[in-house]
Amino acid sequence: MIRIEGLRKEFDQGTVALEKLDLVIKTSTFLALLGPSGCGKTTTLNCIAGLLEPTAGRIWFDDQDVTALPPRERNLGMVFQSYALYPHMKVIDNIAFPLKQKGMKKPERHQKARETAKRLQIEHLLDRRPAQLSGGQQQRVAMARALAKEPRILLLDEPMSNLDARLKIEIRDEIKRLQQDLGLTAIIVTHDQEEAMAIADKIAILDNGCIQQFDTPEVLYHYPANLFVAHFMGNPPMNFIDAVLKDNQISGDDFSFPVPKGAMVTQPPESADRKIKIGVRSHQIQVKIQHGPHTVKMELQIVENLGKELLLAGMVGKSFVRVTMPDTSAADMYRGIRRSGEPYVYLEFNEGLNLFDTEKGVNLSGRNLS
Ligand SMILES: Nc1ncnc2c1ncn2[C@@H]1O[C@H](COP(=O)(O)OP(=O)(O)O)[C@@H](O)[C@H]1O
Ligand SMILES: [Mg+2]
Repeated sequence: MIRIEGLRKEFDQGTVALEKLDLVIKTSTFLALLGPSGCGKTTTLNCIAGLLEPTAGRIWFDDQDVTALPPRERNLGMVFQSYALYPHMKVIDNIAFPLKQKGMKKPERHQKARETAKRLQIEHLLDRRPAQLSGGQQQRVAMARALAKEPRILLLDEPMSNLDARLKIEIRDEIKRLQQDLGLTAIIVTHDQEEAMAIADKIAILDNGCIQQFDTPEVLYHYPANLFVAHFMGNPPMNFIDAVLKDNQISGDDFSFPVPKGAMVTQPPESADRKIKIGVRSHQIQVKIQHGPHTVKMELQIVENLGKELLLAGMVGKSFVRVTMPDTSAADMYRGIRRSGEPYVYLEFNEGLNLFDTEKGVNLSGRNLS
């Protein structure tokens, strides 16, 4: 288990990279630190690794306070974005290097390096130098070097950002498999929400040195705690429609419907209207041809058959909304509507509705899976 309490990092020039971070990462789980560039991900990782000294706060590995421990005494493996392989050393010596630092004899450490290389399917590269390797191969060597000393914790800082899209997915799956096989506690830093969703058991999403939400990928995706998380998670992004909430009724341009049961609002507004944004994912919208009591009118602008699904998009008031549905057979019917003099369809939101306070950004829906 890794426990982080009140972690703060200020740099000399007065930049506050981390405000006050609290996190608990259970043993053998995979955590993703997710957020935009500059939000403090690498700073957090480097504090855990011991490469940076925190301004305040403490870090524990199980019962041991490691805050003041030098990196080599923390028993962790680290993979950097740049891989940082030693160019003058053969692959085998790169992988064995951390073992050499530990004082292991050459035959022994080469044996260990060979075993690790085998696990990562790079045995055939052991006699090459880094310059003779492709990006994907260099990535695997960096992984092998991190794993050779059998660390209890694996730290990965954007380890796949230099790879092409296809290799990214392959290596991502490989890293996940290794983490599970070896029962490692792992932390990956990434700005790619899809990568974080795919690889991690838990995601901590950061903005400006503060955690915005810490939960499973499912909860972050379906019940984002605020507009920042909602904008960040998911592709296509969540739809947002401006509305007003009053007396359990949601009203907007040309529509009005009661707050659905599942989307209970925990802090009911007083008599005043509360400006909200309805947040709903494209696949959680029902499309009707005719106006109904609780429908929301959309001016249809785009009809695209994407093969596995049909995309309809257009305007609800001033908001651009995307709808996807698995049944593509009605594509021509919707194209007919779009070309007609009345290019309207009617949307119904029955499930997966999130209601955000426009001003504060918080999710009012008050649901929680965890
Ligand atoms: N050595 C440093 N000196 C001064 N400021 C730094 C240093 N390292 C990082 N920062 C600043 O701290 C903030 C967080 O940086 P970082 O943790 O690298 O972000 P991320 O990895 O999320 O992109 C940024 O504003 C960055 O400019
Ligand atoms: Mg970084």
